[in-house]
Amino acid sequence: MTMNNKIANNSCKVIALTNQKGGVAKSFTTASLAVGLVQEGKKVLVIDNDPQGHASRCLGVKNASVTIADVMDRLIKGEQLKAGYGITSTEEGVDLLAANVNYAMLEFSLISVMSREKVLEEFVQMEREFYDYILIDCPPNLGIFVLNALNAADSALIPVKLEDLSIDGLQQLIQTIGMAKRHLNPSLEICGILFTVVEPRTVLAKQSMAAIREAYGEHVKIYDTIIPKSVKAAECPASGISIYKYDPCGSVAAAYKSLTREVIG
Ligand SMILES: Nc1ncnc2c1ncn2[C@@H]1O[C@H](COP(=O)(O)OP(=O)(O)OP(=O)(O)O)[C@@H](O)[C@H]1O
Ligand SMILES: [Mg+2]
Repeated sequence: MTMNNKIANNSCKVIALTNQKGGVAKSFTTASLAVGLVQEGKKVLVIDNDPQGHASRCLGVKNASVTIADVMDRLIKGEQLKAGYGITSTEEGVDLLAANVNYAMLEFSLISVMSREKVLEEFVQMEREFYDYILIDCPPNLGIFVLNALNAADSALIPVKLEDLSIDGLQQLIQTIGMAKRHLNPSLEICGILFTVVEPRTVLAKQSMAAIREAYGEHVKIYDTIIPKSVKAAECPASGISIYKYDPCGSVAAAYKSLTREVIG
């Protein structure tokens, strides 16, 4: 099951959106960045790697007939999948490997599999030739699903919500990514830290951003784009449409557009 040839399609970038902390806008950023990239003419696949299925919901998909649970289950059993298996097209042009709560059970099946961190990589390797970007939304932990994502990805994008001054969690996450790089995926990089749900004028936000820039800014890219807090963004996931449609003139749509351009470089 090992496949270390990550250069099958050199131009495809595989990005895992990860932070073990819950509610930092991983899923919302995955969906918003994905639609932003499509609007820039890119071909994009989102892999919803979280049994909560929030990225799927943000992209307007509630009841996919085939999900990541089926795909991973078949790969664990050694089945040969056809390219495109399990992928759903969504309204706004993003392709999606959806997830739902059934995926939670698969964590137990994975534990006893050899090379259990490498199952998702097999799927990604199969699909990368068809896409410019593959975005993997991760659950809020550092478990086996996240290790699968870090093994399959070229880089990790770390959304950080500025709600307290504690940066211990970030330290642990960066260490975990370092460990994944050493033991699983030598080409893994951190593509950037993204400040999300920011109230930019508050002292707390300013202090937290300054603390993170001071602690990590020298070694890790921190995106110039900051995603502001907005009620529209909080409402948006339930609507199943992107922020670009839900609140086209709002600050969050503009911020994700700007992030998209930064990611493209
Ligand atoms: N810029 C924003 N302003 C206000 N609310 C936001 C913003 N971005 C996201 N939210 C809201 O924050 C909540 C958490 O977002 P999201 O589900 O994307 O986080 P997550 O990190 O994926 O969570 P989990 O760790 O549970 O997977 C959602 O209700 C979302 O609507
Ligand atoms: Mg999420």
